[in-house]
Amino acid sequence: MLALDARALSKAYGKVHAVQDVTFTIAEGETFGLLGPNGAGKTTTVAMLTTLLAPSAGSARIAGHDVVAEPHEVRTRIGVVFQGPSLDAQLSARQHLRFHARLYHMPRDRALARTDELLRLVELEQRADERVSRLSGGMRRRVEIARALMHRPKVLFLDEPTVGLDPQARRHVWDMLERLQREEGTAVLLTTHHMEEAERLARRVGIMDHGKLLDVAEPAGLKAALGAEVVHLRVAAGQKALAAALARLQGKQGIGAAVWRGDTAEVPVAAADAAVPALLEVVATSGARLASFEVRRPSLEDVFIARTGRALRDAP
Ligand SMILES: Nc1ncnc2c1ncn2[C@@H]1O[C@H](COP(=O)(O)OP(=O)(O)O)[C@@H](O)[C@H]1O
Ligand SMILES: [Mg+2]
Repeated sequence: MLALDARALSKAYGKVHAVQDVTFTIAEGETFGLLGPNGAGKTTTVAMLTTLLAPSAGSARIAGHDVVAEPHEVRTRIGVVFQGPSLDAQLSARQHLRFHARLYHMPRDRALARTDELLRLVELEQRADERVSRLSGGMRRRVEIARALMHRPKVLFLDEPTVGLDPQARRHVWDMLERLQREEGTAVLLTTHHMEEAERLARRVGIMDHGKLLDVAEPAGLKAALGAEVVHLRVAAGQKALAAALARLQGKQGIGAAVWRGDTAEVPVAAADAAVPALLEVVATSGARLASFEVRRPSLEDVFIARTGRALRDAP
């Protein structure tokens, strides 16, 4: 059975189409990444899938249960870590986990064993009895993740789990999530605007922008569809002439559509050795002058740029 099955899920706030026709599935034990900039509709999607928000249209099932018709069945099968902090500063990590166990009516023995197991998983055994106000941001995130796992959910929702963390704390959360994937086998829906995070943790990634899911595939597949390499041409002069010349070159020698970012044309190509001579020739004949020239392997960022015409990091 699918862990999650979302079909044409939509949410409108008046004229704002926050989420439009979003369809995707998550297999049991799979980690799926929703990658998109701020305002893409990620949190709204998570809110509908976790029964907190009624869809305007479409439907979704969690482990076979409909989020609208069977909200209680759904809630017992999901764990959620919200984008914003949600801990009580006065309580310890252990108290948070125990309280959660009681909310879910877990038998006491099982709750105690599960608490120890999860504190170990998130590497907080040493700090488990301090008030969480004394813990770092990364540690608090790990407490939230452990809490969401207490009742062994079928699907764990992580809405931007490392936003606001410094690079080291972020890496630590990633390591922990990888361990969780190995040891717990929980399906995960992760939202992020961090490409490296999606690439490292998600088996499949959905690219989301302006409420729509534009593409769903394995990160390697998304990149391969773009071309084997991306040639970056930064111009010092003659940008207009070069843009026109590149447009004419598209489709020849495995050369794809150029995307302009400021003074730089990013041109996906099937193979750099075939494309580069042709590219340099049009630069020369167009009369443009280059400031720099670089061949790179495509990143998920390049995929995002090709699909949306802008960079994740440029997004508002
Ligand atoms: N309660 C709301 N009322 C009106 N518009 C909203 C509301 N919540 C979200 N939106 C809008 O829906 C869009 C998607 O928001 P959100 O799901 O929070 O995106 P993300 O999590 O990807 O940053 C944005 O344009 C946002 O302004
Ligand atoms: Mg959000």
